[in-house]
Amino acid sequence: MDRATRFELPQRTLRDPLVTLTIHEQQSVPARPVTVRPIRYLGDPVLRRPSKKVRRLDDSIRRLIADMTESMIEAQGVGIAAPQIGVGLRIVVIGMPDEEPYPLINPEVIKRDGERRIYEGCLSVPGYRGEVTRSVSVTVKALDANGREVRIKAEDDLLAQALEHEVDHVNGTVYVDRLDSRDDLEKLEPSDPSMAELRREGDDRPDDDDGPEDED
Ligand code: NI
Repeated sequence: MDRATRFELPQRTLRDPLVTLTIHEQQSVPARPVTVRPIRYLGDPVLRRPSKKVRRLDDSIRRLIADMTESMIEAQGVGIAAPQIGVGLRIVVIGMPDEEPYPLINPEVIKRDGERRIYEGCLSVPGYRGEVTRSVSVTVKALDANGREVRIKAEDDLLAQALEHEVDHVNGTVYVDRLDSRDDLEKLEPSDPSMAELRREGDDRPDDDDGPEDED
């Protein structure tokens, strides 16, 4: 997802990860420069293919997660999925405005309730937004960066939207598929404040400062 649409969204996030199972011990962070990789755009077949499950959390996966995180920050997104940098694996990174980004490996929506209409944007569809129907409450099961099973529940907020959006990506679905019609895709004008935000200089990674300066 991109940050362009979060003006319309409630800011409160509920996050409740429950560690239930240890699969791997944490290993050393791979010594290799993190790489910002180009974002794949709508029309690239990698965005339409269901991704493969991660079978082994090794250094190549850790490097991929580091690259995804950096690519998301560079593109000023609030989430990114591996297919968006051309990798067909079931990995997403969530980067809520006030939180340290975190990966979810093999994420699945295990519970969803309610419906709401909300505007959405995507790094792979730059300059556009569209109104889609999303769930009010969403529970995702996944493995965390250490291979431990976590459950994240979010309700009526940006996180709930991002969870559904990013899990869609690893299933080969882009939000434009959820529009009633392609005519409902709205082009953002360069004068739109959300476009200005997308073009903002510099980055706003949470470990460098107190978070995005243009919250709200
Ligand atoms: Ni997206």
